[in-house]
Amino acid sequence: METTLIIFKPDAVQRGLTGRILTRFEDKGLQVVGMKLMQISQQLAATHYEAHKERPFYPGLVKFMTSSPVVVLALRGNGAIGIARNLMGATFGSKAAPGTIRGDFGVSNSFNLIHGSDSPEAAERELKLFFGPGEVLTWPRHGDAWIYDMSGGKAE
Ligand code: RTP
Ligand code: MG
Repeated sequence: METTLIIFKPDAVQRGLTGRILTRFEDKGLQVVGMKLMQISQQLAATHYEAHKERPFYPGLVKFMTSSPVVVLALRGNGAIGIARNLMGATFGSKAAPGTIRGDFGVSNSFNLIHGSDSPEAAERELKLFFGPGEVLTWPRHGDAWIYDMSGGKAE
């Protein structure tokens, strides 16, 4: 099982889309194992997006991400990282395909509603940045017996 770090960005929270976006992930079958509302500090935004430090959009990105509260989630499932990225859609709202979160809820390229880890390494690093010890829970979900085929002894 993989766990990925998802952020509902300030535009998603301000626009009251938290519930509708979360529903997309729950409908798909990903399990919520961590969730909180928080205001991202300057320092945390800088660390989280440090790979983009030299990019022209970086100052605006940090300003945006720290401008208003966000919802951060840890989502778990088989292939959760790639599944979440597919549900999110392409980076720019203007290009994202209909049916995806960015494609259905926005048109902006920088106010693009959601972040998702893009690799197992990124997920491990980002989950540690946003969740402290004990904040990501491992809990048995009763529906798993119908979400996954467990007949082979592991989730398929
Ligand atoms: P994210 O990291 O937020 O999940 O988004 P992503 O992987 O799809 O895109 P990435 O290339 O990592 O860019 C990070 C965020 O920076 C903003 N951005 N603005 N105006 C621009 O040219 C531009 N390019 C990127 C977006 O908010 C993007 O999600
Ligand atoms: Mg990215």
